[in-house]
Amino acid sequence: MVSPSTFQLHFFLILALATTVFSATLSPSYYEHVCPQALPTIKRVVEAAVNKERRMGASLLRLHFHDCFVQGCDASNLLDSTSTIDSEKNANPNNNSARGFEVIDQIKNEVDKICGCPVVSCADILAVAARDSVVALGGPAWNVHLGRRDSTTANRTLADNDIPAPTMDLPALINNFKNQGLDESDLVALSGGHTLGFAQCRFFRDRIHDETNIDDDFAEYLQENCPRTGGDGNLSPLDPTPARFDTGYFSNLLEEKGLLKSDQALLSGGSTDELVKTYSQNLDAFSADFTNSMTKMGNIKVLTGNQGQIRSNCRRVN
Ligand code: HEM
Ligand SMILES: *[C@@H]1O[C@H](CO)[C@@H](O)[C@H](O)[C@H]1NC(C)=O
Ligand SMILES: *[C@@H]1O[C@H](CO)[C@@H](O)[C@H](O)[C@H]1NC(C)=O
Repeated sequence: MVSPSTFQLHFFLILALATTVFSATLSPSYYEHVCPQALPTIKRVVEAAVNKERRMGASLLRLHFHDCFVQGCDASNLLDSTSTIDSEKNANPNNNSARGFEVIDQIKNEVDKICGCPVVSCADILAVAARDSVVALGGPAWNVHLGRRDSTTANRTLADNDIPAPTMDLPALINNFKNQGLDESDLVALSGGHTLGFAQCRFFRDRIHDETNIDDDFAEYLQENCPRTGGDGNLSPLDPTPARFDTGYFSNLLEEKGLLKSDQALLSGGSTDELVKTYSQNLDAFSADFTNSMTKMGNIKVLTGNQGQIRSNCRRVN
């Protein structure tokens, strides 16, 4: 005979199982049983790509950010244009700027091969590749929460509207992040992603020619490679050590050497000044907050359960 307590026990076991299977929350161990080789494979391909070109680590980190800020972390930014898809790759923040798509394709191919079938989503690949990139460039490791599924849509207008612009001032940046459920501390910590990588002249031209909250020698030096007209695509590093995850981005702001207007805005007499100063002299504090904010960003409007799909080609809907 089944006693009430046994019945209750079974009931709650089934409930627990159901919430594990259909849970709307992500888990670091999501692929442990279905494909234990998935994460090591992503790491291997990222390391090879970063060893070939250090900047690729920066580019892959940015791809995850540009995914999450546009209808959530659903790999919508990887979809190419079709008659029904208006690719986010053509949005202003991405056009001639977002890069690393070939590396994502390579990861997807190798992961699907080693897993035997497409079980790992493109959105999860972006999240893991971002983490592995940071680690490859000397940054902190963290457990990436997994189980995202891929969108069947993209939205170029949303990419134009929701990805923050380098011309934003502090109130605009705070508001932009707030719309994603991220606070001022997340804004400062995540902007620290600019400890890696480069920006094109067209994104910082007005700052180095017209603004006053910039170190004179620094502005003059940058103007050589970024004149008033021409040289739109010429690159300058976002901090003095663009291939190393360190506090250089923040200490640079203290010297008024932020490359983008949106960088220097974080140290402009506003509410974020103190955190910039803290991070400039405390790599552990920056690293801890960066990893927490990355996890928070990685949770934005994720698709789970039977929502969306697992794409077999990250550039196309199945
Ligand atoms: C706070 C608002 C932000 C603005 C306005 C902004 C803007 C930009 C711009 C204009 C570039 C240069 C792109 C180019 O020249 O092609 C850039 C590069 C980059 N951004 Fe941001 N960004 C922001 C936040 C973030 C966040 C949150 C992350 C990641 C956590 C991030 C990671 C990067 C990286 C790594 C690069 C270098 C990419 C490369 O070298 O390929 N950014 N960002
Ligand atoms: C993307 O950039 C290229 C080169 O700068 C330009 O010719 C093209 O019109 C841009 N595409 C869109 C959709 O704005
Ligand atoms: C894109 O997003 C905008 C703003 O949320 C919305 O009005 C529009 O319908 C969306 N377009 C597509 C194709 O989903």
